[in-house]
Amino acid sequence: MNKSVKSILAAMIVVASAGALAQQGQPKPENLIKWRQSAYQVLAWNSGRLKANVDGQYNKDEVVKAANTIAAIANSGLGALFAAGTEQGKGWHDTSTKPEFFKDAHRVGELAGNFNKEANELAKVAVAGDAAAVKEQFGKLGKSCKACHDDFKIKD
Ligand code: HEC
Repeated sequence: MNKSVKSILAAMIVVASAGALAQQGQPKPENLIKWRQSAYQVLAWNSGRLKANVDGQYNKDEVVKAANTIAAIANSGLGALFAAGTEQGKGWHDTSTKPEFFKDAHRVGELAGNFNKEANELAKVAVAGDAAAVKEQFGKLGKSCKACHDDFKIKD
């Protein structure tokens, strides 16, 4: 093998491994969409738990667990799951994010910030343990979910 063939081969190996690294660092769009759909399903699970508690038999431990789970997801940096390249496509199913979501960062930030605020407040109120206060705060959280869905989620 002459010298120039060797250096071309060496360069190709460098390019190939850089490509593999880039792929590792950047999740596939399909996974990003799956993860966000999964995160929202966990929100739905825990909203359901809260609803059952504030409307029926109130169990403080259950309420704290559910509220903490919602707050953890709210604080997780969900925005990263809406990376470029995920405007369309399939996760568990076709994305139901409206195209506008990717064009109006200001409004998305406002709605996401509001959701965060209500979720963190709910986690605090849950620990205090007053059922009526939890019910009221849960109502505010629900409004923050709906506000974002009204603007940015394709209806079922
Ligand atoms: C900042 C915006 C925003 C907030 C706040 C928000 N959602 Fe969503 N939600 C979305 C978007 C966008 C989708 C579509 C995700 C996709 O398919 O790409 C979605 C999807 C969902 C889904 C369907 C998931 C699936 O299987 O495809 C459920 C259930 C859901 N949200 C529940 C909630 C609940 C409950 C809350 C509040 C506790 C909430 N969301 C707060 C934007 C939001």
